[in-house]
Amino acid sequence: MSKTEKLKLTIAIDGPAASGKSTTARQVAQILNYLYIDTGAMYRALTLEVLNRRIPEKNEDEVVKVAKEVNIQLVPGVKGPRTILDGVDVSEEIRLPEVTHIISTISAYKEVREIMKLKQRELAKNGGVVMDGRDIGTVVLPQADVKIFMDACVDDRADRRVKELKEKSIPVDRENIKEDIIQRDLIDSTRDVAPLKPAKDAIIVDTSNLTIADQVQKVIDIVNDLL
Ligand code: DC
Repeated sequence: MSKTEKLKLTIAIDGPAASGKSTTARQVAQILNYLYIDTGAMYRALTLEVLNRRIPEKNEDEVVKVAKEVNIQLVPGVKGPRTILDGVDVSEEIRLPEVTHIISTISAYKEVREIMKLKQRELAKNGGVVMDGRDIGTVVLPQADVKIFMDACVDDRADRRVKELKEKSIPVDRENIKEDIIQRDLIDSTRDVAPLKPAKDAIIVDTSNLTIADQVQKVIDIVNDLL
């Protein structure tokens, strides 16, 4: 067992949409033999259920009710982590543009965030985790051992998201994707509760000209520097 594995650190990776944080966080977790927790997938699963139940996203009370009722699990799978919503694997569906389009409205609700925060803290309580999201270093795990904020210019992020969706055979329009990213960043960073922003003690990593391998190495270097 490696030193990092024994230490069971808590690593928080935040950043805007398509900054490469999820792929980086997943690979870092693999290398360190840690649990990877994609909090965006949790918000996405909730959003999918809201859509499935045909609840308008502006109906806060009903959305909160769904958040209290649903059972969202993140489980390891052969092709990477899977998102299970009330027993059904929705890992692909949660990436659909319909979900992405309204998710920032749903994830801005205070009570929704409170429910998610408790679930996320529970998942991280034993350490040995890499958790990625928007408010992990600031709100969910303010005591995290390592806090990283990944950022990149919007065009780079749009290109990345287009590539990712194409690989999953999801039809894409680059301009729509870019507009969605801009809108989501705006809502995510200006909401009253847990807005997207770097924690005061976060290390900022600009991923604009970095490959995923570079990003992963940067995080591993930051972790090793800490030891
Ligand atoms: O990481 P992602 O793009 O899959 O996240 C989708 C949305 O979920 C994002 O636009 C805002 C919301 N989110 C959030 O508010 N807080 C988190 N910790 C993670 C995601």
